[in-house]
Amino acid sequence: MFHLQSPDQTRLRGAPLLHRHWSMNPRVSDWNGRRVWVIGASTGIGAETARMLLAAGTRVALSARQADALHEVAASHRDAQVLPLDVTRHEQVLAARDALMNVWQGLDLVLIVAGAYHEMRVDNFDMQMVDRLIDVNLRGVFHCIDAVLPVLLQQPGSGIGIVSSVAGYSGLPRALAYGPTKAALINLAESLYFDLHPSGHSVYLINPGFVATQATAGNDFDMPGLISAPEAAGHILRGIERGAFHIHFPRNFTNWLRVARMLPYRWYFWLTHKVTGL
Ligand SMILES: NC(=O)c1ccc[n+]([C@@H]2O[C@H](COP(=O)([O-])OP(=O)(O)OC[C@H]3O[C@@H](n4cnc5c(N)ncnc54)[C@H](OP(=O)(O)O)[C@@H]3O)[C@@H](O)[C@H]2O)c1
Repeated sequence: MFHLQSPDQTRLRGAPLLHRHWSMNPRVSDWNGRRVWVIGASTGIGAETARMLLAAGTRVALSARQADALHEVAASHRDAQVLPLDVTRHEQVLAARDALMNVWQGLDLVLIVAGAYHEMRVDNFDMQMVDRLIDVNLRGVFHCIDAVLPVLLQQPGSGIGIVSSVAGYSGLPRALAYGPTKAALINLAESLYFDLHPSGHSVYLINPGFVATQATAGNDFDMPGLISAPEAAGHILRGIERGAFHIHFPRNFTNWLRVARMLPYRWYFWLTHKVTGL
């Protein structure tokens, strides 16, 4: 079992909300030897991020449900730890945390990438699917946060990154269940920043646009700005390196969405309908 020290011993109150050079988190110049736990590392964006980190000499713990796929990504790398878990099972996440702490005795960064995607409109509303998306995308992320917070709080300088989505910026057609879970994660990362940054921790909000993975393979529409999973992983790691809080990509797509969400609703609904035809 992992034991928490008194928070008073570990918290450094009063650090500035903005860093030198205006970066919102400390910059990362070297991944070598860092201890990074990637949750959702079996396929897609998380798998590519874990591969890139391992190639950079990072000590990586890989988690998701599919143990075989995790071992494939780890590729018998001596710096890799494979910890299969289901994020919807709180006790599994806590047990994986304990197992990892027995080996590492600390953690420099956790990246919560795990997520499930499903298109939904009112004509295919499915409460079971709503429950599933909330369980994986939201409750699952809270399970991960509950597991890692005691570790992070003992370690000023450590960090947490949450993969949300541009689908969380504003309401979108076909995103009836997925969108609200991702909107909640944006809010969650923002709230975490207030609490963790003053004590010397890094918080990253990661909002990908369209990335070619098994999650989007079933999309029957042209995905604007579509990029590959290795490209997405590169954007994530470069964003962390430059100390960004909001890591969104590809910018030629995400910047339009960021502008659109600031429009008055009347214009936002008109424009989104016009562009998507939905
Ligand atoms: N692809 C895109 O266009 C896009 C855009 C914006 C945001 N995102 C977000 O990016 C993240 C990664 O998605 P992806 O596109 O790379 O899709 P993906 O290939 O389907 O990856 C999803 C990952 O989450 C893991 N996962 C799913 N349910 C889990 C559970 N119950 N417990 C533990 N792990 C679980 C999967 O592993 P197991 O199946 O082995 O459990 C897998 O490693 C998701 O949060 C997604 O919402 C993707």
